[in-house]
Amino acid sequence: MEQTLIVIKPDGVQKKLVGTILSRFEKRGFTIHSMKVFQFTKEQAEKFYLPHSEKKFFSSLVKFIISDKVVAVILEGSTAIKVVRQMIGSTKSDEAAPGTIRGDFGLNLTDNVIHASDSKESFERESKIIF
Ligand code: CMP
Repeated sequence: MEQTLIVIKPDGVQKKLVGTILSRFEKRGFTIHSMKVFQFTKEQAEKFYLPHSEKKFFSSLVKFIISDKVVAVILEGSTAIKVVRQMIGSTKSDEAAPGTIRGDFGLNLTDNVIHASDSKESFERESKIIF
């Protein structure tokens, strides 16, 4: 069994997609291990997105993620990190394949509905900031 972290971003929560998104993961076979509804502080968001701190979109990324409530979930299941990343689709929503979460519900780059850890190291780092 493997764990991974997803964060349903402010746009996903505002569009009332929480149930729909969690249902997809449950139907695929993942178990919800932990779940938290909260609003990132600026400090927490800067820590969360630290690997992007040198990128020019960093401040807009932080501004967006702190703008409203998010839902963070630790999912558990076989090869969770890889399969969940496949299910959320390409970072650029306009390039995400239909059938993926971003491909079905997103159209933008910063507000792209959902985040998911891309490795075991990211999962450990990111989940410690939230849980
Ligand atoms: P996420 O999976 O949360 O991880 C980092 C985020 O940075 C990514 O989703 C996008 O929302 C955002 N991002 C990545 N590339 C760009 C970019 N070129 N311009 C603006 N935002 C970006």
